[in-house]
Amino acid sequence: MKPRVKLWDRYFELAMDEAQIQERVQQMARDMERDYLGKRPIFVTVLNGAIHFASDLTRNFKDKCDITFVKYSSYKGTKSTGTLQCSLGIQESIFGRHIILLEDIVDTGLTIAGIFEELSKQEPLSIRVATLLYKPKAMKHTIQPDYVGFEIENEFVVGYGMDYNGLGRNLPEIYKVSED
Ligand code: IMP
Repeated sequence: MKPRVKLWDRYFELAMDEAQIQERVQQMARDMERDYLGKRPIFVTVLNGAIHFASDLTRNFKDKCDITFVKYSSYKGTKSTGTLQCSLGIQESIFGRHIILLEDIVDTGLTIAGIFEELSKQEPLSIRVATLLYKPKAMKHTIQPDYVGFEIENEFVVGYGMDYNGLGRNLPEIYKVSED
């Protein structure tokens, strides 16, 4: 039987173990090293969910880069509210720079579409989106992530930075909601 965790009122079952996640994140870092050779990209980490993804990915990116953070939210419990709120905007100048936006998960696409639009105003040279997880069936925007760790079904997940009402971010594995 697969390991399970209980967070608040819901049970979650193991979907991806630590080794699987780490291997894929290392591959993504190698792809980015190749694509950004000598370009010193700025990794823009979307807080809070992308903390572990950003930490593991950037430690595996062996070329020069900058790392910064923004904070936007659209989720309440297990549902997207449909509106995006910014609580921490970008602090650095990104004019003329290459940006890689780091997201934990792209669901409806509202968050990346909104942040993409905000960052574009500062005229960076390029913006690409890297997400560990992508739910293509939930996508409601035309913007597509450029780097995807894993495509998943339209189901709620926790762990490796992702939470259910604040709990579960510290889990090194990823779990999906289970019916019982
Ligand atoms: P979107 O704006 O609908 O694409 O949702 C993106 C944000 O919602 C992510 O950065 C997460 O913070 C949150 N989110 C979306 N799906 C999940 C999930 O399955 N578990 C936990 N958080 C999620």
